[in-house]
Amino acid sequence: MKRIEIYEVGPRDGFQSVCTYIPMQTKLDVIERVMNARISHIQITSFVSPKAIPQMMDAKELATVCIEKYPNADFSALVPNLFGATTAADTGLKKISYVVSLSESHNRANIRRSHEESFEELQRIMRELPQLDICVDLATAFGCPFEGKKKPEELVDFIRPYVDCGIKTVDLCDTVGVANPAQVRETIAAVNAAYPDLALQIHIHDTRNMGMVNTLAAIESGITAVQSTLGGLGGCPFAPGASGNLATEDLVHMLCEMGYDTGVDEQRIVEAAKYEHEMIDGVYSGHLYKIENNI
Ligand code: COA
Ligand code: ZN
Repeated sequence: MKRIEIYEVGPRDGFQSVCTYIPMQTKLDVIERVMNARISHIQITSFVSPKAIPQMMDAKELATVCIEKYPNADFSALVPNLFGATTAADTGLKKISYVVSLSESHNRANIRRSHEESFEELQRIMRELPQLDICVDLATAFGCPFEGKKKPEELVDFIRPYVDCGIKTVDLCDTVGVANPAQVRETIAAVNAAYPDLALQIHIHDTRNMGMVNTLAAIESGITAVQSTLGGLGGCPFAPGASGNLATEDLVHMLCEMGYDTGVDEQRIVEAAKYEHEMIDGVYSGHLYKIENNI
């Protein structure tokens, strides 16, 4: 049975889309349920400016509590700069996702930096915090609202300096949900051919109902580390049409049905999604927890 590692990113990507503040205890309760369903790769928060994303203002406290409670879990957090990386490391986190967008316009809109500035900042982080395990989250890898789609060769060229400076993992993010399975296959093949030792992860948004097919295309192209969010939580009540990632429990169900080994407790992950749906008012795209609970 082929093993697929599920990376739950809901406590970061899902929660950040919820406009009203979610009490920290509720966030911790969701994380606990995900852990109890035997998913221990969890992006628990992001260390970003509270002015940019007020939802993440409790990042430091939340990370400290999580690490104390689950010292052996594989937690990470998203960071956009050295300030965030330093705060993350201070809490005891060993892993970060450093976000940079393939499209420069999106990079400027999201983190107010040019490509060059983002790359320099990463080098600063690597110099000052060499103990951190860094995954580069490549946002808009499959298309951008401002610049459209780029060719796989452009993506390959873009990540070359990152690979050359020692980055070992890149997460290909379909930030606005515009990828298609052929593009996913072509992109992964191009990256694998150029950098056979680079580990890849995939992060697909379900905006156009292609979360599952694109994620499966990535898995069938050899990717074994896959990101998703509990319940498919995402989007924003104030941004009609916005959508979250592929729902973790739906992905787990499909993979189990297909004979993959995820190690996840399917029943518990569905219950976790139901709990989150009850507790957090947001936009959910998951199917399974609704079917199983007559919602
Ligand atoms: N964590 C907490 N606070 C931070 C921070 C971080 N990582 N980085 C900067 N700040 C604070 C600064 O201390 C400063 O605070 P002050 O106004 O009280 O002095 C303020 O934020 C502005 O700092 P500055 O360096 O000028 O940043 P900026 O205004 O150019 O914003 C980012 C840049 C990257 C910090 C901000 O755009 C951001 O956090 N973006 C996150 C976007 C995001 O999470 N997107 C979704 C995930 S992909
Ligand atoms: Zn995302």
